[in-house]
Amino acid sequence: MGRDSRNINGFDKPTDLPKDHAQHQQWQEQNRDWWEKHPMRYDWNDPVGFEEFSTEFFQEIDRRFFSVVREYMPWKKIPFDPLIDFGSLNQRDVLEIGVGNGSHAQLLAQHAKSYTGIDITSYAVKSTSERMKHFGLDKAKIIRMDAENMEFPDDSFDYIWTWGVIDHSANTQRIVEEMARVLRPSGRAVTMVPASGAIWFLPLLMRDGFKCMEPKPNYFPFPEASSSLPLCERCQIPFADS
Ligand SMILES: C[S@@+](CC[C@H](N)C(=O)[O-])C[C@H]1O[C@@H](n2cnc3c(N)ncnc32)[C@H](O)[C@@H]1O
Repeated sequence: MGRDSRNINGFDKPTDLPKDHAQHQQWQEQNRDWWEKHPMRYDWNDPVGFEEFSTEFFQEIDRRFFSVVREYMPWKKIPFDPLIDFGSLNQRDVLEIGVGNGSHAQLLAQHAKSYTGIDITSYAVKSTSERMKHFGLDKAKIIRMDAENMEFPDDSFDYIWTWGVIDHSANTQRIVEEMARVLRPSGRAVTMVPASGAIWFLPLLMRDGFKCMEPKPNYFPFPEASSSLPLCERCQIPFADS
């Protein structure tokens, strides 16, 4: 099956919510099934080329992902350092939603006081768990869980990171509510979602924008279009009201 919107059934607009429980179940099962079969390996044009779950396999996925990130968010020392205050993460309990193959997990877990990563697929949990073993980060907790129904008590985390995930879920709004519930009052949540809804166009999706949950929902459509936009006071990402 190609990455073609015509294969994605059940809704007219990406912002639609399921009309009842049965439809919710159906959409979420389609979402989970898609990611079990098409895990996020950045291999649309070119197979990763190393044995699955080997050190080289993870390094190659990272090379592909971070080279794209670097184009639009150059870093000083560590990928995402314009966005993440790595120096303060050692005082923070970090949750990542939708770990995929664990590029972000490795980065965050190296710096966090504690790191918990969840994903709705068995594949992502296996892959990210294997990655953490390879890189000596066994203390990290990698759990299969639907972010729409998190099994964590209220106020469990200081920092939530989620990259290209919540827009795929059957009810994105439900994840945002869950994030607000498990985040401590002084906490911070940073989430990247595509701004255009072009869900089949993955290279663009990566470049397409960020949404910052604080102080209000903001996004910037493209980096090259954002230079004249004001910066969000909290996360310093350019934003446009929408
Ligand atoms: C586009 S991939 C992004 C993976 C990773 N964040 C990255 O940037 O490489 C989306 C991931 O979100 C996961 N996902 C989708 N819906 C989810 C949900 N409701 N709860 C937890 N994980 C979910 C998928 O299984 C998949 O691994």
